[in-house]
Amino acid sequence: MILTTERMILRPFEEKDEEAVHNYAGNPDNVVYMIWGPNTKEQTKQFIQDTKKNWEKESVTNYDFGIVLKETGELIGGCGIYLNDTRKEGMLGWILHKDYWKKGLMPEVAMELIRFGFDELQLHRIYATCNAANYGSYRVMEKCGMQKEAHFRKNRYGRDGSEDIWYDEFYYAILDEEWAAR
Ligand SMILES: CC(C)(COP(=O)(O)OP(=O)(O)OC[C@H]1O[C@@H](n2cnc3c(N)ncnc32)[C@H](O)[C@@H]1OP(=O)(O)O)[C@@H](O)C(=O)NCCC(=O)NCCS
Repeated sequence: MILTTERMILRPFEEKDEEAVHNYAGNPDNVVYMIWGPNTKEQTKQFIQDTKKNWEKESVTNYDFGIVLKETGELIGGCGIYLNDTRKEGMLGWILHKDYWKKGLMPEVAMELIRFGFDELQLHRIYATCNAANYGSYRVMEKCGMQKEAHFRKNRYGRDGSEDIWYDEFYYAILDEEWAAR
C-alpha cells in the first residue's frame, strides 16, 4: 500500500528504517507533545515490527505509514490512520523529524490520509486530537479543513514538555459530506 503527495511517498515501515525512525522517535525535542517517547532503540525496533504485523492482518485497522521525501529518498517521519471497531471512523496521527517542520509538509500528508480515509476506506468521519499547546499540530488540522469540536480541559495526565501534569486537549474532525462538498 503506497500513497503519494506532491513531495512525499507514504509507505509501510521496513526494518531498514530503524535508524531514521529513531532519529525522531528517540529525540526528546521531537516528542514533547507526543503521548509516547522518547523511545529507546528497542522500542523503535518493536514499533516497526508492530506496524508490520498490523499490515498483515486480514482486516487492517492500523494504517501506519513512513513518510519519505521524494527529492532525497529520506524517511523523515511517520503518520497513520486508525479505524474504530465499526470501520466508519478513523483517527489521524503524525510526526515529522524536527529538521522538516514548518515547510507545510504535514498538511500535504494529512490531506492525502483524509482522501484515503474517505475515498478508499469509505469512512464517515475522521478526527484528530492534540495537546492544546501543540500549535503546529492543530494548525495542520485546520489547514486540512477539520473543525474544532472540543476543548477538553485538563483531561489528560502525562508529559507536557518535561513534566507530568494535567493538560488540555483539542479535538478536531471532518465528515464525509464536508469532504465531498469541499
Ligand atoms: C506538528 C507537526 C506535524 C506540524 O507539521 P508541519 O509540516 O511542520 O506543519 P506546517 O509546516 O504546516 O506548520 C503548521 C503551523 O505550525 C507552525 N509550526 C509547525 N511546527 C511547529 C512547532 N514545532 N512549534 C511551533 N510552531 C510550529 C508553522 O509555523 C505553521 O504556522 P502557521 O500556520 O501560523 O504558518 C510537526 O511540528 C511535528 O512533527 N511535531 C512533532 C510531533 C507532534 O507533535 N505530532 C503531533 C502530535 S498530536
